[in-house]
Amino acid sequence: MSGFPDVRMRRLRQSPAVRGMVRETTILPQQLVLPLFVREGLTEPLPISSMPGVVQHSLDSLPSAVAEAAEAGVGGVMLFGVPAVRDATGSGADDPAGILNIATSVVAAEAGDALVVQTDLCLDEFTDHGHCGVLGADGSVDNDATLERYVSMALAQARAGSHLLGLSGMMDGQVAAVRAALDAEGFTQTLLLAYAAKYASAFYGPFREAVDSQLTGDRRTYQLDPGNRREGIREAVVDEAEGADIVMVKPAMAFLDVLREVRDTVSVPVWAYQVSGEYAMVEAAAANGWIDRRAAVQESLLSIRRAGADAVLTYWATEAARWLRD
Ligand code: PBG
Repeated sequence: MSGFPDVRMRRLRQSPAVRGMVRETTILPQQLVLPLFVREGLTEPLPISSMPGVVQHSLDSLPSAVAEAAEAGVGGVMLFGVPAVRDATGSGADDPAGILNIATSVVAAEAGDALVVQTDLCLDEFTDHGHCGVLGADGSVDNDATLERYVSMALAQARAGSHLLGLSGMMDGQVAAVRAALDAEGFTQTLLLAYAAKYASAFYGPFREAVDSQLTGDRRTYQLDPGNRREGIREAVVDEAEGADIVMVKPAMAFLDVLREVRDTVSVPVWAYQVSGEYAMVEAAAANGWIDRRAAVQESLLSIRRAGADAVLTYWATEAARWLRD
């Protein structure tokens, strides 16, 4: 029984019913997380041109987007704030009246227990130089000074009602510093998602428009070199040891090998972020009639799950969840 004609692989593919019973990978709506942008000062949603179908929300339009996601069974929403004013230290980030913290309390009130309210914990949207941390005298990103800012942000977000903090800044020691500060203030149940293996990627391009990024240059002194697989695994191991409840690989589709290896290495849940450029590529090709949009979206999500992601952040979360339910 080692080969044809004893082995007929096509027997398992003969009908939808048989294929359904032997399908190895599935996706559930609750395994999807919807990223949402909210911009200070907007009176109505503003389309993001490089991400067709995605908008910057106003505080008024945000609750219905959350309600729709919850209705579709999406597991959570990840909030990003776009402030009207920026400065060197990103002071809007930990201001209780800052756009992200206000939006968090609005969303937490809307969501109740229906989904997990998640917030991006990073300074880049709030700094006038666009870096994920504060700068030292020599102009480089100062790791340890940034940790103090992250701790302050974490407490502001937890107080605003965030259930899960997405530590996306790639500073060393960020998980341990934030965990200790939260615990000391009694926020022992606030979850920490560590963007453990976050690569310096060209696929973040459309996101820079989405958050009106002020960055000139790049993030290569803190985000990972795309050529490095082992280093990505090591980041995940370090973050798990620091107390991360969940670790992340980002982007998703260009790093499926890293995702698989992280899943096989750590014991905490592993999530993946299907980023803005991944979204934009499929939307652009579909708009040209070059690929079947729905099939491509579903296959992309399946590939990320198959590579080992327990959950996926995707701009298609609500739509894909609806497809799964229908
Ligand atoms: C940083 C952050 C970025 C993304 C999520 N969080 C941008 C970056 O690191 O430059 C990108 C997400 C996407 O491209 O969809 N706060």
